[in-house]
Amino acid sequence: MYLRLFVVLVTISLHGHISTMASDPDPIQDFCIPNPKFGSIRTIAHLSILPCKNSTEVTTDDFVFSGLKLAGNFTETGLATIPVNPTVFPGLNTLGMSFVRADLQVGAINPPHFHPRATEITYVVQGSVYSGFVDSNNQVFASVIEQGEVMVFPRGLVHFQMNVGKKPATVFGSFNSQNPGNQKIPSAIFGSGIDVELLEKAFGLSPKEIGTMRRRFDPKTVK
Ligand SMILES: *[C@@H]1O[C@H](CO)[C@@H](O)[C@H](O)[C@H]1NC(C)=O
Ligand SMILES: *[C@@H]1O[C@H](CO)[C@@H](O)[C@H](O)[C@H]1NC(C)=O
Repeated sequence: MYLRLFVVLVTISLHGHISTMASDPDPIQDFCIPNPKFGSIRTIAHLSILPCKNSTEVTTDDFVFSGLKLAGNFTETGLATIPVNPTVFPGLNTLGMSFVRADLQVGAINPPHFHPRATEITYVVQGSVYSGFVDSNNQVFASVIEQGEVMVFPRGLVHFQMNVGKKPATVFGSFNSQNPGNQKIPSAIFGSGIDVELLEKAFGLSPKEIGTMRRRFDPKTVK
């Protein structure tokens, strides 16, 4: 009986410990609005510890973000994203959360990518979105998510979306990190400057084919 209780307690405390390590640090105060006196939030937000404003100088506006009413700017592939993290919404700082609005034109995709520091839950506000992820055994979990439905993408796993409906789609994604990171597979592989010979051997492609991929995914190569 005592042994069983001990095992349960140890299990709970181990899980508590593991989940603490797998997320942003716990806040040590109610909130921490970065203090602009110490530099532009855009340039200091990458620091893990930001000097906070005196809470007597904090206002309601620090906790309100109004930049999600409309879609962002569409890329030539028909995807528009507005990442909302402490860089644009200082009120999120130290709270261990951030989110994104993504709009996809008909047929547009959000290419395979992953967030190294966050699980994402996506909510389809409008449209029909083929959504899925791949686990570390290369098993794919994908289906068409309709308006009002959510799907979860576990932390660090490659995931993707495609608007398969007949009208534009809007999704919101919520992250359990204020800085989830976003690594896009095509540009991580072909747009990052990995040695061409290695890419040829890894993918069984010719130098010409590698060149095609590089021109497509490397922002530094002239198109
Ligand atoms: C915050 O501002 C109040 C009011 O001006 C002041 O009394 C307090 O000392 C300040 N706190 C800090 C940590 O500077
Ligand atoms: C869209 O582009 C315009 C012009 O470059 C810019 O002013 C605006 O901030 C952009 N919108 C978003 C949501 O990034």
